[in-house]
Amino acid sequence: MSVVLRTRITDLFGIERPIVQGGMHCVGQAPLAAAVSNAGGLGLITGLTMGTPEKLAAEIRRCRELTDKPFGVNVTFLPAVVPPDYPGLIKAIVDGGVRIVETAGNNPSKWMPLFKEAGIKVIHKCTSVRHALKAESIGVDALSIDGFECGGHPGEDDVPNMVLLPLAADALKVPFVASGGMADGRSLVAALSMGAEGINMGTRFVATVEAPVHDNVKQAIVAASELDTRLVMRPLRNTERVLNNAGVERILAKERELGSAIRFEDVLEQVAGVYPRVMYKGEMDAGAWSCGMVAGLIHDVPTVAALMDRIMAQAGEIIAARLSSMVQPASPRVAAQASA
Ligand SMILES: Cc1cc2nc3c(=O)[nH]c(=O)nc-3n(C[C@H](O)[C@H](O)[C@H](O)COP(=O)(O)O)c2cc1C
Repeated sequence: MSVVLRTRITDLFGIERPIVQGGMHCVGQAPLAAAVSNAGGLGLITGLTMGTPEKLAAEIRRCRELTDKPFGVNVTFLPAVVPPDYPGLIKAIVDGGVRIVETAGNNPSKWMPLFKEAGIKVIHKCTSVRHALKAESIGVDALSIDGFECGGHPGEDDVPNMVLLPLAADALKVPFVASGGMADGRSLVAALSMGAEGINMGTRFVATVEAPVHDNVKQAIVAASELDTRLVMRPLRNTERVLNNAGVERILAKERELGSAIRFEDVLEQVAGVYPRVMYKGEMDAGAWSCGMVAGLIHDVPTVAALMDRIMAQAGEIIAARLSSMVQPASPRVAAQASA
């Protein structure tokens, strides 16, 4: 029983389904972004993956050839070994006519006037209510609230979505999507129940046919359980949730050995330049790559369209059948109390 869900997020971005594909280094390229947008969600190209403004401009053109639906670009502001050309990348986004940007890492205050002037809608991803309020105050249009379960950078507060989402709903005026641990129609309905207006998924979209990554990566996610992720770089206050492997074990051993004296250079080898080796060559033990606890809920590699159809069908079933069937007419005693 598929369902059409209209929320403030679908209205804001002009999409048909309240499902966003989060920016993902080496994964969020035109084929995946376009597949998500074509299936009615919001697909995102990952800006930093393209490397140069010229390559990002080309990827935006490629995405436009693959879909006539809205799509966006993720711009991540995180510590990097070589600082990216942010002004150039953002110019490529504006000049490329992209109307939606997902920001993450630091808040995008420096770039907000430019985004606004270009008519770009900004969805900022963050991991705490205080950061969300800050982003709201600088004028972002929406938020992506990333709980502790999430793949990637969960921040340092460790608050899971069961608590974080209702807190966000109480505090925020702009609409937000729930991110971290989202996999299916159950996630979507739960997120909506807790005040979100949609979901953002990362790990689930890696294990799809269209994700342009080595099959080893998809199979590793299918094989993983919810117990197979680890948090690395916590002593550096740059915590990342990753799938465990030999490279990750090396990082954790270094962290134990060096304690608070650890520096980024100590783990560089297992962190820098690892993504292309894992994602394109399938070298699964090369080092740390982001993966959420939600891997435990992922058992197949469907097409993006099949996945999103399934999510909407399951959400419809839960809302119209499961939940509705639980609602009973009030008993005479309860009815009497209610009318007293
Ligand atoms: C392989 C991978 C790479 C990611 N890279 C980025 C990134 O470059 N920028 C970013 O903002 N988020 C990144 N993320 C986080 C996702 O956009 C999303 O917020 C997160 O995966 C949500 O949690 P989930 O994996 O439980 O769905 C990445 C996640 C994964 C799984």
